[in-house]
Amino acid sequence: MPKERIDKLLSHQGFGSRKDIKRLLRSAEVLLNGKRIYDPSLGIDPDSDELSVDGEPVTIVKNITLMMNKIAHTVSANKDGEHQTVFDLLAPEYRTPYLQDKLHLVGRLDMDTEGLLLFTTDGALTHRLISPKSHIDKTYFVMLEREFSEQEQADVSRRFEEGIAVGPDDNDPGFTCEPARVRFPSQEEIDAALEKSSVGEVCDRLWEGDAEMLRRPARFAILTIYEGKYHQVKRMFTAAGNKVVFLKRLAMGQLLLDKKLAPGEYRKLSDEELELLS
Ligand code: URA
Repeated sequence: MPKERIDKLLSHQGFGSRKDIKRLLRSAEVLLNGKRIYDPSLGIDPDSDELSVDGEPVTIVKNITLMMNKIAHTVSANKDGEHQTVFDLLAPEYRTPYLQDKLHLVGRLDMDTEGLLLFTTDGALTHRLISPKSHIDKTYFVMLEREFSEQEQADVSRRFEEGIAVGPDDNDPGFTCEPARVRFPSQEEIDAALEKSSVGEVCDRLWEGDAEMLRRPARFAILTIYEGKYHQVKRMFTAAGNKVVFLKRLAMGQLLLDKKLAPGEYRKLSDEELELLS
């Protein structure tokens, strides 16, 4: 983890303003790894350094990374005047003034997209995952408005693998996608991906609740892309002559969405999961 200035860190842990910390460093016994320190600009690593003030150990809030199973109808933003945001779903402990500044989203999902969404305080992790150079893969489960014929499935696989050209969307100009991988899932995979999702709403809206529409494997796809442009998945299928009617992110790199999370639920990543993203 990058080092943080001691005055900033102590201030965030509730020891007063930076001015107060300066005074504290003069008047109290502040020890860093057992050694008395006075310099407020000193950098410390909250993950490995030990700090105490007048003999009391200071518990440093470490980086937090959460995975959420994003629910449809929520905005991937901190605040929104109109709609519920994914931050609104977090418990108060994650919405303190300190974390408000630091906890941010690792990329976004559209309002109607569900599935794996990461929040983190770790800027380096975010950079690793979303910088255009990172090419970390993202895997999406897709339901399409109409079934693809076998021939279309073969054509789409080839066109996605070659890098399909997509049209403009809102103010975003068209572009040619990087090669992507698509496959057409078994009914078992479809059932697993649709469990704990709001696909029922889509089914009601498009097919008057006819659940048979969910039992047509040719209407579904699992797509892996290595970039993350605006509305990319939707634009790719539009370019292939179809329309995405339900979209759920299943994985980022090796990290899989926890199937136990109901829509809107979240949890901290385990150390093993963090390792997968490093
Ligand atoms: N691609 C999309 O079109 N929408 C998303 O939310 C994510 C990827």
